[in-house]
Order: sequence, then C-alpha cells, then structure tokens
Amino acid sequence: MTRRPLIAGNWKMHTITVEAVGLACRVAHAARGYADRDVLLAPPFTVLAAVASELIGTEILLAGQNVHWEVSGAFTGEVSPAMLRDVGAGYAIVGHSERRHLFGEDDAMVNRRTVGALAHGLIPILCIGETLEQREQGETMAVLTDQVKKGLAGVTLADPHALVLAYEPVWAIGTGRTATSAQAQEVHAGLRSLFVDLFEKQVAEGVRILYGGSVKPDNIDELMSCQDIDGVLVGGAALSAESFGRILQFRQNG
Ligand code: PGA
Repeated sequence: MTRRPLIAGNWKMHTITVEAVGLACRVAHAARGYADRDVLLAPPFTVLAAVASELIGTEILLAGQNVHWEVSGAFTGEVSPAMLRDVGAGYAIVGHSERRHLFGEDDAMVNRRTVGALAHGLIPILCIGETLEQREQGETMAVLTDQVKKGLAGVTLADPHALVLAYEPVWAIGTGRTATSAQAQEVHAGLRSLFVDLFEKQVAEGVRILYGGSVKPDNIDELMSCQDIDGVLVGGAALSAESFGRILQFRQNG
C-alpha cells in the first residue's frame, strides 16, 4: 500500500501575523512542484485565518494545534472543531507532548479531543511518545500501545485518512537529539502492527504514521526512506522557510 507522504510544521507559540503570513508564503513557494506529497502547517490560532487567506490557491493544508470536543460552550481558552473548520483548518493536533507534560492533559482528555475532532469532520493528528526513562526501562512499546488504545478508545476507523498518528519520543522534541531512523522505523512498524490488531487491515495499512522530534534538513531524507515513516511533524525547523522548504523537498534514498 502506498501512503502519501505528509510533511507537517508545528509553529507552536511562535509568529505574529506579519511573520506568519510571510512564512506561509515562502513555504508555499518551496512546495511548488511537489504535488506527490501533502504539506501541512499548524500555526497558532490567532494567525490561522490570516495564513489561510495567504494560502488560497495552494494545496497546503492547515491544522489547529489543539481542539476542544464541543461545538461551542462555556470553555474559556478553548477552540472548537467548528471554529477551526470555519477558518480553513481540516486537521487538529491532539495530545502533543507539550500539552501532556506542561499542561497536564491526560489520555482521557486526549481521547475526548480525538473523538470530538472526528465527530466534527476534522482529522486528528494524534501524538504519542515515551519519555527517556520509559525508553531506558524498555517500556517504549507498552507506553505507546497504552497511549494509542486510550487515545482511540471508542473510535471505529473505517477510513485510513480520517486519522494521522504522530510518534514523537519526548526525549527527542526540541533537544536536537533525534531518534535514529532505525529506532524510529522499529517503533513505526510496531505501531503499524498494533493498528492491524485494532482496526481493519486496510485501515491499518493506510493510516499515516509521522515521526517527530528534532527533524532537520540533514536527517529528513534518511527518515523518509524508512518503510513505515509516512511523514514528519516538525517543530523548530518549521519556523524557517529555508529549513522547512528543504524538509518538504525530501528525497528518498535508494
Ligand atoms: P522539534 O518539535 O522538531 O522542535 O523537536 C517537534 C514537535 O514538537 O512536534
């Protein structure tokens, strides 16, 4: 099964409007002629509408960096799926390690966000990842399996394109310490077989699994050459059009 590569940039809490629009414009320029892959940007909520309007006429996809599960209500500080769709975002990151570790979001909340996104026609990018301590204790696959099962509790996936999974080892995020492509591939293959246990084979084989954590221009080609790595979720290197441009222009080795 061939899976269309997805290169996603998470801008985190960076950019005011003028910077965001300029960066989006330069990314769109870099993506021209690369029609065999999806490129996605996740800017802060405050600049989503401006970025969406800058990207009219391009194929670049947009995501919120988080999403609530209700359509509207008394939930100060939250953004609903309908609000994201209204400004042109078709995706939402859920369960990012910064949400889990800095803001105390647990698997139950990640599950509500995932289910809410799906129910309202958004594609969740569900992030999972083990800490360094968990890896050193040999618990990586157990931790990830638990996060996937809890994050997707109650979800029936009939369409492999309805969800994206992002494996982001906590110890690799923003640290400059990337998992080797062999380490990442091993985990991705494990996640693929977990999906075979949980969902129809055609869904398990079609779902895209991204790698995230210190993805840079100098490791992208090797990562994208691994069989089960279908794309990347990029933080720091997504803030410059030069580095993100090179990343989205990845070349598979061999
Ligand atoms: P990084 O962030 O590329 O800066 O490590 C990745 C992420 O948090 O999605």
